[in-house]
Amino acid sequence: MERVHDKEQVQNRGQGRHRAEDQQKIYQRWAPVYDQVYRGILRDGHRTLARLAAGAGTEILEIGVGTGLVLSHYPRRCRVTGIDISEHMIARAREKIARDKLFHVRQLQVMDAHALAFEDRSFDAVCLPFVITLIPEPERALDECARVLRPGGEIILASKLGDGAGLQGAIEEAVAPLVRRIGWSSAFRISRITGWAQASGFEVVEILPVFPNGFFKVVRLKRRSPNV
Ligand SMILES: C[S@@+](CC[C@H](N)C(=O)[O-])C[C@H]1O[C@@H](n2cnc3c(N)ncnc32)[C@H](O)[C@@H]1O
Repeated sequence: MERVHDKEQVQNRGQGRHRAEDQQKIYQRWAPVYDQVYRGILRDGHRTLARLAAGAGTEILEIGVGTGLVLSHYPRRCRVTGIDISEHMIARAREKIARDKLFHVRQLQVMDAHALAFEDRSFDAVCLPFVITLIPEPERALDECARVLRPGGEIILASKLGDGAGLQGAIEEAVAPLVRRIGWSSAFRISRITGWAQASGFEVVEILPVFPNGFFKVVRLKRRSPNV
Protein backbone atom coordinates (compact mmCIF):
# COMPACT_ATOMS: atom_id res chain seq x y z
CA MET A 1 0.00 0.00 0.00
CA GLU A 2 2.82 2.40 0.96
CA ARG A 3 4.52 1.71 -2.35
CA VAL A 4 1.36 2.70 -4.23
CA HIS A 5 1.28 5.95 -2.26
CA ASP A 6 4.96 6.65 -2.94
CA LYS A 7 4.42 6.14 -6.68
CA GLU A 8 1.31 8.34 -6.57
CA GLN A 9 3.23 11.07 -4.73
CA VAL A 10 6.14 11.08 -7.19
CA GLN A 11 3.74 11.25 -10.15
CA ASN A 12 1.81 14.05 -8.47
CA ARG A 13 4.97 16.04 -7.73
CA GLY A 14 6.07 15.80 -11.35
CA GLN A 15 2.72 17.09 -12.50
CA GLY A 16 2.47 19.71 -9.73
CA ARG A 17 2.95 22.92 -11.69
CA HIS A 18 1.04 21.60 -14.67
CA ARG A 19 -1.91 20.58 -12.54
CA ALA A 20 -2.10 23.91 -10.68
CA GLU A 21 -2.45 25.68 -14.02
CA ASP A 22 -4.95 23.05 -15.18
CA GLN A 23 -7.03 23.66 -12.07
CA GLN A 24 -7.12 27.40 -12.77
CA LYS A 25 -8.29 26.81 -16.36
CA ILE A 26 -10.84 24.18 -15.37
CA TYR A 27 -12.34 26.32 -12.61
CA GLN A 28 -12.42 29.42 -14.80
CA ARG A 29 -14.89 27.42 -16.93
CA TRP A 30 -16.77 26.04 -13.91
CA ALA A 31 -17.16 29.37 -12.07
CA PRO A 32 -20.34 30.65 -13.84
CA VAL A 33 -22.28 27.36 -13.50
CA TYR A 34 -20.71 25.72 -10.43
CA ASP A 35 -23.44 26.68 -7.95
CA GLN A 36 -26.29 25.44 -10.15
CA VAL A 37 -24.60 22.06 -10.60
CA TYR A 38 -23.18 21.43 -7.13
CA ARG A 39 -25.09 23.44 -4.48
CA GLY A 40 -27.65 20.69 -3.84
CA ILE A 41 -25.44 17.64 -4.04
CA LEU A 42 -22.73 19.09 -1.77
CA ARG A 43 -25.03 20.80 0.77
CA ASP A 44 -24.98 18.03 3.40
CA GLY A 45 -21.18 17.81 3.24
CA HIS A 46 -20.88 21.60 3.44
CA ARG A 47 -23.21 21.88 6.44
CA THR A 48 -21.53 19.04 8.32
CA LEU A 49 -18.05 20.41 7.69
CA ALA A 50 -19.04 23.94 8.82
CA ARG A 51 -20.70 22.62 12.00
CA LEU A 52 -17.63 20.58 12.97
CA ALA A 53 -15.26 23.47 12.22
CA ALA A 54 -17.29 25.87 14.37
CA GLY A 55 -17.12 23.32 17.18
CA ALA A 56 -13.32 23.65 17.17
CA GLY A 57 -13.33 27.46 17.63
CA THR A 58 -14.00 30.75 15.92
CA GLU A 59 -10.90 31.39 13.76
CA ILE A 60 -11.47 29.34 10.62
CA LEU A 61 -9.42 28.96 7.45
CA GLU A 62 -11.14 27.45 4.42
CA ILE A 63 -8.85 26.03 1.71
CA GLY A 64 -10.33 25.93 -1.82
CA VAL A 65 -13.18 28.25 -0.88
CA GLY A 66 -14.39 28.20 -4.49
CA THR A 67 -17.60 30.16 -5.10
CA GLY A 68 -18.17 30.31 -1.34
CA LEU A 69 -20.93 27.70 -1.02
CA VAL A 70 -19.85 26.78 2.54
CA LEU A 71 -19.60 30.34 3.86
CA SER A 72 -23.26 30.85 4.82
CA HIS A 73 -23.17 27.61 6.90
CA TYR A 74 -20.64 28.92 9.45
CA PRO A 75 -22.22 30.54 12.52
CA ARG A 76 -21.91 34.34 12.50
CA ARG A 77 -19.72 34.25 15.65
CA CYS A 78 -16.92 32.73 13.52
CA ARG A 79 -14.24 34.70 11.68
CA VAL A 80 -13.59 33.02 8.36
CA THR A 81 -10.64 33.40 5.98
CA GLY A 82 -10.85 31.72 2.56
CA ILE A 83 -8.20 30.95 -0.05
CA ASP A 84 -8.41 29.47 -3.54
CA ILE A 85 -6.07 29.08 -6.50
CA SER A 86 -8.76 30.34 -8.91
CA GLU A 87 -9.46 34.07 -9.02
CA HIS A 88 -12.60 33.33 -11.05
CA MET A 89 -14.08 31.12 -8.30
CA ILE A 90 -13.11 33.67 -5.61
CA ALA A 91 -14.82 36.44 -7.60
CA ARG A 92 -18.11 34.48 -7.26
CA ALA A 93 -17.51 34.09 -3.53
CA ARG A 94 -16.98 37.85 -3.19
CA GLU A 95 -20.33 38.49 -4.92
CA LYS A 96 -22.02 36.10 -2.48
CA ILE A 97 -20.48 37.81 0.56
CA ALA A 98 -21.75 41.22 -0.59
CA ARG A 99 -25.19 39.96 -1.68
CA ASP A 100 -25.88 37.82 1.43
CA LYS A 101 -24.09 40.11 3.89
CA LEU A 102 -21.73 37.40 5.10
CA PHE A 103 -19.80 39.74 7.38
CA HIS A 104 -18.23 36.87 9.33
CA VAL A 105 -16.02 36.29 6.26
CA ARG A 106 -13.01 38.50 6.99
CA GLN A 107 -10.83 37.93 3.93
CA LEU A 108 -10.55 35.96 0.70
CA GLN A 109 -7.24 35.58 -1.09
CA VAL A 110 -5.94 33.89 -4.21
CA MET A 111 -3.38 31.44 -2.79
CA ASP A 112 -2.05 27.94 -3.37
CA ALA A 113 -2.75 25.38 -0.63
CA HIS A 114 0.86 24.19 -0.89
CA ALA A 115 2.22 27.51 0.42
CA LEU A 116 -0.04 29.34 2.88
CA ALA A 117 0.91 32.94 3.61
CA PHE A 118 -0.27 32.84 7.23
CA GLU A 119 1.60 32.81 10.53
CA ASP A 120 2.06 29.56 12.44
CA ARG A 121 -0.79 28.73 14.87
CA SER A 122 -3.26 31.27 13.45
CA PHE A 123 -6.46 29.19 13.22
CA ASP A 124 -8.70 27.00 15.42
CA ALA A 125 -9.88 24.98 12.42
CA VAL A 126 -8.71 24.50 8.84
CA CYS A 127 -11.39 23.20 6.44
CA LEU A 128 -10.84 21.55 3.07
CA PRO A 129 -14.23 21.10 1.38
CA PHE A 130 -13.98 19.00 -1.80
CA VAL A 131 -10.42 20.06 -2.59
CA ILE A 132 -7.80 17.71 -1.06
CA THR A 133 -8.20 15.15 -3.87
CA LEU A 134 -7.35 17.83 -6.47
CA ILE A 135 -4.16 19.07 -4.86
CA PRO A 136 -0.98 17.73 -6.54
CA GLU A 137 0.87 17.23 -3.22
CA PRO A 138 -1.84 16.66 -0.61
CA GLU A 139 0.59 15.76 2.19
CA ARG A 140 2.48 19.03 1.66
CA ALA A 141 -0.80 20.96 1.80
CA LEU A 142 -1.81 19.10 4.97
CA ASP A 143 1.60 19.98 6.50
CA GLU A 144 0.79 23.62 5.77
CA CYS A 145 -2.66 23.23 7.39
CA ALA A 146 -0.99 21.74 10.47
CA ARG A 147 1.51 24.61 10.61
CA VAL A 148 -1.17 27.32 10.69
CA LEU A 149 -3.32 25.43 13.19
CA ARG A 150 -3.17 26.28 16.89
CA PRO A 151 -2.41 23.49 19.41
CA GLY A 152 -5.55 21.40 19.87
CA GLY A 153 -6.98 22.68 16.58
CA GLU A 154 -8.78 20.59 13.99
CA ILE A 155 -8.55 19.88 10.27
CA ILE A 156 -11.92 19.06 8.68
CA LEU A 157 -12.07 17.59 5.18
CA ALA A 158 -15.00 16.68 2.94
CA SER A 159 -14.46 14.72 -0.28
CA LYS A 160 -15.10 11.59 -2.26
CA LEU A 161 -12.74 9.30 -0.34
CA GLY A 162 -12.74 5.61 -1.24
CA ASP A 163 -10.86 2.64 0.16
CA GLY A 164 -9.90 1.30 -3.27
CA ALA A 165 -11.54 -2.05 -2.58
CA GLY A 166 -13.51 -4.29 -4.94
CA LEU A 167 -15.25 -3.45 -8.18
CA GLN A 168 -16.01 0.11 -7.09
CA GLY A 169 -12.28 0.73 -6.42
CA ALA A 170 -11.36 -0.65 -9.85
CA ILE A 171 -13.97 1.54 -11.59
CA GLU A 172 -12.82 4.63 -9.68
CA GLU A 173 -9.23 3.96 -10.74
CA ALA A 174 -10.25 3.42 -14.39
CA VAL A 175 -12.25 6.63 -14.72
CA ALA A 176 -9.76 8.79 -12.76
CA PRO A 177 -8.06 10.39 -15.84
CA LEU A 178 -11.44 11.37 -17.33
CA VAL A 179 -12.76 12.75 -14.07
CA ARG A 180 -9.56 14.78 -13.53
CA ARG A 181 -10.21 16.63 -16.80
CA ILE A 182 -13.39 18.13 -15.36
CA GLY A 183 -11.72 19.13 -12.09
CA TRP A 184 -12.72 16.18 -9.92
CA SER A 185 -11.02 13.08 -8.59
CA SER A 186 -12.43 9.58 -8.15
CA ALA A 187 -9.49 7.43 -7.03
CA PHE A 188 -8.18 9.24 -3.94
CA ARG A 189 -7.76 6.83 -1.02
CA ILE A 190 -8.90 7.75 2.49
CA SER A 191 -5.78 5.92 3.75
CA ARG A 192 -3.75 8.80 2.38
CA ILE A 193 -5.44 11.15 4.89
CA THR A 194 -5.40 8.74 7.83
CA GLY A 195 -1.77 7.79 7.06
CA TRP A 196 -0.74 11.45 7.06
CA ALA A 197 -2.66 12.03 10.32
CA GLN A 198 -0.95 9.15 12.06
CA ALA A 199 2.51 10.30 10.97
CA SER A 200 1.85 13.95 11.84
CA GLY A 201 0.49 13.85 15.38
CA PHE A 202 -3.22 13.99 14.55
CA GLU A 203 -6.02 11.78 15.84
CA VAL A 204 -8.74 10.70 13.40
CA VAL A 205 -11.72 11.70 15.58
CA GLU A 206 -14.52 10.73 13.20
CA ILE A 207 -15.33 9.87 9.61
CA LEU A 208 -18.92 10.77 8.77
CA PRO A 209 -20.70 9.50 5.66
CA VAL A 210 -22.80 12.27 4.10
CA PHE A 211 -25.25 12.71 1.20
CA PRO A 212 -25.72 10.98 -1.17
CA ASN A 213 -25.81 7.76 0.84
CA GLY A 214 -22.23 8.03 2.14
CA PHE A 215 -20.76 8.68 -1.33
CA PHE A 216 -18.97 11.70 0.19
CA LYS A 217 -17.28 11.65 3.59
CA VAL A 218 -16.38 14.26 6.16
CA VAL A 219 -13.19 13.54 8.12
CA ARG A 220 -12.31 15.25 11.39
CA LEU A 221 -8.66 15.31 12.51
CA LYS A 222 -7.55 16.75 15.84
CA ARG A 223 -4.01 17.66 16.73
CA ARG A 224 -2.80 15.54 19.65
CA SER A 225 -1.54 17.50 22.64
CA PRO A 226 2.28 17.20 22.89
CA ASN A 227 2.27 15.29 26.21
CA VAL A 228 -0.06 12.47 25.07
C1 LIG B 1 -14.50 21.12 -6.36
S1 LIG B 1 -14.15 22.77 -6.09
C2 LIG B 1 -14.75 22.95 -4.41
C3 LIG B 1 -15.11 24.38 -4.07
C4 LIG B 1 -15.72 24.55 -2.67
N1 LIG B 1 -14.77 24.17 -1.65
C5 LIG B 1 -16.97 23.72 -2.54
O1 LIG B 1 -16.98 22.77 -1.76
O2 LIG B 1 -17.95 24.06 -3.21
C6 LIG B 1 -12.39 22.76 -5.86
C7 LIG B 1 -11.79 24.13 -5.59
O3 LIG B 1 -10.44 23.95 -5.16
C8 LIG B 1 -9.63 24.94 -5.78
N2 LIG B 1 -8.24 24.46 -5.82
C9 LIG B 1 -7.73 23.46 -6.58
N3 LIG B 1 -6.42 23.31 -6.33
C10 LIG B 1 -6.08 24.23 -5.38
C11 LIG B 1 -4.87 24.57 -4.71
N4 LIG B 1 -3.71 23.95 -4.97
N5 LIG B 1 -4.89 25.57 -3.78
C12 LIG B 1 -6.05 26.22 -3.51
N6 LIG B 1 -7.23 25.94 -4.12
C13 LIG B 1 -7.25 24.96 -5.03
C14 LIG B 1 -10.27 25.11 -7.15
O4 LIG B 1 -9.89 26.33 -7.74
C15 LIG B 1 -11.76 25.04 -6.81
O5 LIG B 1 -12.29 26.29 -6.49
